[in-house]
Amino acid sequence: MKLRTIENVDVRGKLVLLRDDFNVQIVDGKITDGFRIEQSMPTINALRAAGAKIAICAHLGRPKGTRNMEYSLAPVAEYMHVPLIADCLDKGFMANMKEGDIVLLENVRFYEGEEKNDPAFAAKLAEGFDLFVNDAFAVSHRAHASTVGVAEILPSYAGNLLAAEIENLSNVMENPARPLLSIVAGSKVSTKIGVLKALAKLSDTMIIGGALGTTFNYAQGHKVGNSLFEADQKDTALEIMEFAKENNCQILLPLDKGVAKEFKRDAVRENKAVDAITDDDIIIDAGIDTTARNLAAIDKAATVIWNGTVGMAEWAPVWSMGSFSIAEQIAARTRDGKLVSVVGGGDTVAALEACGVKSYMSYVSTGGGAFLEFVEGRTLPGIAILEDK
Ligand code: 3PG
Repeated sequence: MKLRTIENVDVRGKLVLLRDDFNVQIVDGKITDGFRIEQSMPTINALRAAGAKIAICAHLGRPKGTRNMEYSLAPVAEYMHVPLIADCLDKGFMANMKEGDIVLLENVRFYEGEEKNDPAFAAKLAEGFDLFVNDAFAVSHRAHASTVGVAEILPSYAGNLLAAEIENLSNVMENPARPLLSIVAGSKVSTKIGVLKALAKLSDTMIIGGALGTTFNYAQGHKVGNSLFEADQKDTALEIMEFAKENNCQILLPLDKGVAKEFKRDAVRENKAVDAITDDDIIIDAGIDTTARNLAAIDKAATVIWNGTVGMAEWAPVWSMGSFSIAEQIAARTRDGKLVSVVGGGDTVAALEACGVKSYMSYVSTGGGAFLEFVEGRTLPGIAILEDK
């Protein structure tokens, strides 16, 4: 896919509407993970150095078209040291902008027209700007006014991050070094059917873990106690197993689990084989044998695509063993030049961060849902509209 990029576009003195994804985690008014903001900086700096007047448009959470200040981008403006324009449709700031200036527009989802991709709202948002740059890969699977609507009105281009995401993800999907191992985990089969099938088609081996793995274990007739799983996805799980077999992809399911009697961080951990789990057990992490088997699979792989943690990685150190072991092994193999590693998804990236290995990965995507849809091979509307035909 060839995109219209900002390279060779003269932006000096131009008012640029820049869409970024700053949907970051904020606790008590402070940003706890600035990854998406940091990844957006190269484009911001390039536009700034080229003399653009930049207004960044972004969303936070799902305020559903209401001005709910719980979802204000004020903490992001503070983090970036840029002024916040309290209403994304207010154009008053434009007259005072000098080359290289940056402002952040308040949450675009405060308006109903955003998620509806209302043309009248998109026209108001685009008004006064000379061009549009989309660097928000993570929200490019949404056909919203600030991703698609404004791109239909203004001359529009892909930013550096968006272009890098497409290039890195396309490379690993189109021409992966083999064997290719995918590791898919997380909570719901129902939200990952498409990606599980796409990866089963592409991969030589696929590890299915976390609550997703629990659903597959259940489909195979094992007891899963009081664990998180989806009983109604039993047939889907079996169908995916069959689909993988037809496509010569070996599926590796959990062999054992870290379980407890209570779902809490300081619960007592016990290791149980999947056929020893009882009705009062709660699965919270991958087990010891499963982890050893996962690490051996990583050692054999030349490419790994990873999305989803295999347990409550945020409850370190007791319940993070399964996920952190995967992260550390991928990091070590990548660092040694033996592996190409591509990781996506908020929880997974947080796990990399928590065990200090994020910088060793070949590529870490800023996308969650967008990453999954891209891997699934779907057309992402925010990207399709930037295609250089
Ligand atoms: C994300 O965090 O994955 C994106 O910002 C999209 O958010 P949404 O799922 O609320 O549209």
